[in-house]
Amino acid sequence: GDRPQEAMRSAHEIAASTYHHVLMLTEQGSSGRQYIKERGFSREQLEHFQIGFAPDRWDALTTILTKKAFDLKMMASASLLGERESGGQFYDRFRNRVMFPIWDGQGNVIAFGGRTITDEKPKYLNSSESPIFQKGKTLYGLHLARPSIRKQGSIVLFEGYVDVIAAWGAGIANGVATLGTSLTEEQAKLIRRNAESVLLCYDSDKAGTEAAFKNANLLQQEGCIVKIAQMPEGNDPDDYIRQFGAERFKNDVIGSSLTLMAFKMQFLRKGKNLNDESERMQYIESVLAEMSSLTRAVERDHYLRQIAEEFSLSLDALKQEQNQLYRAKE
Ligand code: GTP
Ligand code: MN
Ligand code: MN
Ligand code: MN
Ligand code: MN
Repeated sequence: GDRPQEAMRSAHEIAASTYHHVLMLTEQGSSGRQYIKERGFSREQLEHFQIGFAPDRWDALTTILTKKAFDLKMMASASLLGERESGGQFYDRFRNRVMFPIWDGQGNVIAFGGRTITDEKPKYLNSSESPIFQKGKTLYGLHLARPSIRKQGSIVLFEGYVDVIAAWGAGIANGVATLGTSLTEEQAKLIRRNAESVLLCYDSDKAGTEAAFKNANLLQQEGCIVKIAQMPEGNDPDDYIRQFGAERFKNDVIGSSLTLMAFKMQFLRKGKNLNDESERMQYIESVLAEMSSLTRAVERDHYLRQIAEEFSLSLDALKQEQNQLYRAKE
């Protein structure tokens, strides 16, 4: 293998176990433990996700990596350390933060996310891209979720790693997260390679809803069967679980998700009076137009039948209407 990359991986492993040890067992970790306690993470969650704490010091990790004879400049390019402007002097990049190791698909630690326990900005400090970490190719928690993904045949996609951890605590073990709301084509392909069905469980706010729409379309293009979970306005999965508990999360959020098409149909009929013929026709046309994004014939058939039934129309007439619409678009 590649020597610098091996050294970077090994330093990340050391950093992860150091941060975890600090959180679990040391005096320096007490403010981190206090924060963890307030957030309600269990010991099992701390262990399973190897959560840690970076002490409020400039030289904790730097000293350890120096003693172990790591090339500190290389450690700075791996985003574990910072280098002073003057050059040649190094310091801990993560300080006074709860640390979430980020793994590659094989379970090697390749980066960190660090959450402030005060109100410091940024709220989350993530590792910069490095030779071992490309954000757009990484899905948080994938190697841990894989057995459950295999068993369920589906993935639950969250926007925050804290949501993955909270969901795991509630018994949902097939969750992964992007690092932020944007999903790359590579991440979408990676999801499709691991499961055919994806359930998007994003924050119920403007950013989360917009991202859910956008990413759902991308995942559908990659051939995934996409569903979207719904939560009360303003909640994210972690908030929801703490407020309403695991059972309601499993039944009311994970269990009653809508397909993307059903989600769009619900959206399109909002504010329309479907007893009015022209509004009804408008609605049906917009649904037929939306259906052009469905790649599966069985899915198209399903929604055509649903509309035919709801509005007492013949399937043939709907199909003709749809063909005309698609031809007009070409
Ligand atoms: P909590 O307040 O700890 O519950 O955070 P959250 O997980 O609910 O985070 P939020 O919904 O604000 O953001 C979702 C994800 O976006 C996080 O898990 C991070 O990966 C990312 N993110 C949020 N804030 C920041 C930030 O300030 N900097 C960076 N780099 N990423 C962020
Ligand atoms: Mn441990
Ligand atoms: Mn959010
Ligand atoms: Mn959130
Ligand atoms: Mn949150």
